[in-house]
Amino acid sequence: MKITIIGGGSWGLALSKVLSDNSHQVLVYDVNKKIVNKINKLHICLQLNEDIPKDIKATTDIEKAINYSDTLLFVVPTKVLRLAISDTVKYLKSPKLFVNAAKGIEPDTFLRISEIFAEMIPSKYLKGFVSLSGPSHAEEVIKGLTTAITASSEKEADAVFIQDLFHNTQFFRVYTSTDLKGAEMGGALKNIFALASGLIAGKGLGDNARAALITRGLVEMKKFYEIYGADTKSLMGLTGIGDLIVTCTSPHSRNFQAGYKIGHGKDLEETLNSMTMVVEGIRTCEAAYKFAKTKNLDMPIISAIYEVLFNKMDSDEATKMLLGRSSKAE
Ligand SMILES: NC(=O)c1ccc[n+]([C@@H]2O[C@H](COP(=O)([O-])OP(=O)(O)OC[C@H]3O[C@@H](n4cnc5c(N)ncnc54)[C@H](O)[C@@H]3O)[C@@H](O)[C@H]2O)c1
Repeated sequence: MKITIIGGGSWGLALSKVLSDNSHQVLVYDVNKKIVNKINKLHICLQLNEDIPKDIKATTDIEKAINYSDTLLFVVPTKVLRLAISDTVKYLKSPKLFVNAAKGIEPDTFLRISEIFAEMIPSKYLKGFVSLSGPSHAEEVIKGLTTAITASSEKEADAVFIQDLFHNTQFFRVYTSTDLKGAEMGGALKNIFALASGLIAGKGLGDNARAALITRGLVEMKKFYEIYGADTKSLMGLTGIGDLIVTCTSPHSRNFQAGYKIGHGKDLEETLNSMTMVVEGIRTCEAAYKFAKTKNLDMPIISAIYEVLFNKMDSDEATKMLLGRSSKAE
């Protein structure tokens, strides 16, 4: 099969490598010429400084990329997603299957990513939509380390199609789900708790605190699932607890790394300036906090992280705020 990847960063190239390992043909589109040159000439992923197969080709020509295949996989940071979709729409001539591997909720609209696609792609070109999500750091996938993720779509056949493309019995196991809402909520929200987990580690608060955060984080996630109409059973799956565990415990997580730096006393601007790669949890935290306010939902952890990120609350004060809440039944 031929597959187009929009976004040749860490995750876009790790997924390209899985497809290449499965003997599929991949064309990567990226706006950054330097990234495209590194792929075509040196066969490396610039962000991770890792080798990639020579048969993975890249281009800065979006028209060529869109016409290359009927399956378009988007792997760009969510803040540029609308831009990438509007560039794509200009060149659509036939229906395509859209797949997304980015994770987030839009701050001003509270839209999930599939809803942004549905809003922007004319329905005659939107053959289907699949979300690819789960505990999967690019740093490990690109090395061929064992990973399991989930392809989620409201149309099961589309999820199965993507499962077949990516499934690799040596190292990459792909499940399917029809709970698209749950997959998208899980992938987005876990990044907020990764920031909190990094903060806990940065402050040296210990593993008990981290386990409490993950557990109580799941409770806050469940409230979102319920209000968005997602299946709360997905919380027990790879797109829920699976992704939450890896992102809250792995040093590969940029959200964890950002939280760690803030826990060490750096402010948000300084932290972001020191990081070259996307920290999705910040934008998602803003979205989740504002959405929870409109629905009168009690989200103590998300609120505490929001105060630290956006209102410069000291992280000690945020911890005190969380611990000082009135006691209650679990
Ligand atoms: N890195 C991971 O381990 C991982 C795992 C799962 C999901 N994700 C998600 O994937 C998304 C991308 O993450 P990443 O780690 O690959 O980021 P990255 O910063 O490594 O790469 C993003 C790439 O997108 C390109 N880009 C920016 N604007 C573009 C546009 N308009 N059109 C085409 N390309 C454009 C950039 O040049 C860059 O190469 C994020 O939402 C992230 O949460 C990442």
